[in-house]
Amino acid sequence: MPAADPAPAGARSVTAVAHPNIALVKYWGKRDEQLIIPFADSLSMTLDVFPTTTTVTLAPVAGADAVTLDGGPAPTAMTTRVTAFLDLVRTLARRTEPAVVDTHNTVPTGAGLASSASGMAALAVAAAAGYGLDLDAAGLSRLARRGSGSAARSIFGGFAVWHAGHGSGATADASSYAEPVTDAAIDPALVIAVVDAGPKAISSRAAMRRTVATSPLYPAWAEANAADLAAMRTALAAGDLAAVGQIAEHNALGMHATMLAARPAIRYLSAGSLALLDRVAALRDEGVCAYATMDAGPNVKVLCAPADAGRVAEAMQLAWPGSSVVVARCGPAARIEP
Ligand code: PMV
Repeated sequence: MPAADPAPAGARSVTAVAHPNIALVKYWGKRDEQLIIPFADSLSMTLDVFPTTTTVTLAPVAGADAVTLDGGPAPTAMTTRVTAFLDLVRTLARRTEPAVVDTHNTVPTGAGLASSASGMAALAVAAAAGYGLDLDAAGLSRLARRGSGSAARSIFGGFAVWHAGHGSGATADASSYAEPVTDAAIDPALVIAVVDAGPKAISSRAAMRRTVATSPLYPAWAEANAADLAAMRTALAAGDLAAVGQIAEHNALGMHATMLAARPAIRYLSAGSLALLDRVAALRDEGVCAYATMDAGPNVKVLCAPADAGRVAEAMQLAWPGSSVVVARCGPAARIEP
């Protein structure tokens, strides 16, 4: 919906900050690739580390969008994706001006650490305000979803659930958005162990497509997600960290199993990831409540009580040479910088 006051844009400039989120019940697989409508609901924790800061400045006299990443020209693939997203915003806002987009990422890009979630959430918030789109939080979540599915959840702080949505076309678009989980009774730590910060071998977009098209395990996992989500919501409301961790670890391993069964197989987990998973299991044997989750990359994130985070972080660092560790907690919603 266009804003009430479609003032000439001039040099309107808006800066937004968003944080990554890590799914405890994953999203994997789209039933509508264009609108980014997932097969299953998902639930995540927004982090207080690795923010993305993005400034969108309307440039009425420019011939095209210009995109920078960390002060230098953005890679072509990123520029193409940002321009496609701005085209969507311009269509919704009935505007045409190009924009200058300046992004600063503090997370290693493309390593399964959710840089696309914080990046697309920050871009959605800044671009919507810059082009005068008057959207509430659910509307911003729908918009961010069009940039990258997981970005729908980074609009919110704390824990967020992304409703997959129903129907097709406009109905699916309207019903597929995230909202905060308001009754979570835990405030855990998430120890992020970076095994390898390099870019991933296959994009999550391509990997999802191949998994849905070729993995015989995919339908079973997508169906199990509904039960995982219900159990996760109960465990969060009960403040049961062990149950939250167990569900998250099962759910993540199931997602990776669907990928391993794809043809050709997709394997994001490396020798380092497996060493860390072994160490997490050993920590449990030692009496520490610690559970792992992994996304589209080799890095391992360990959910634990804040009081155990130091011990877990040290164990992760020692378990694989060269790994580095960051301790995160629940972080804030995406916001416009004053
Ligand atoms: O938003 P995308 O397309 O980068 O997908 C990311 C999906 C996972 O991170 C693997 C899982 C999730 O729910 O975030």
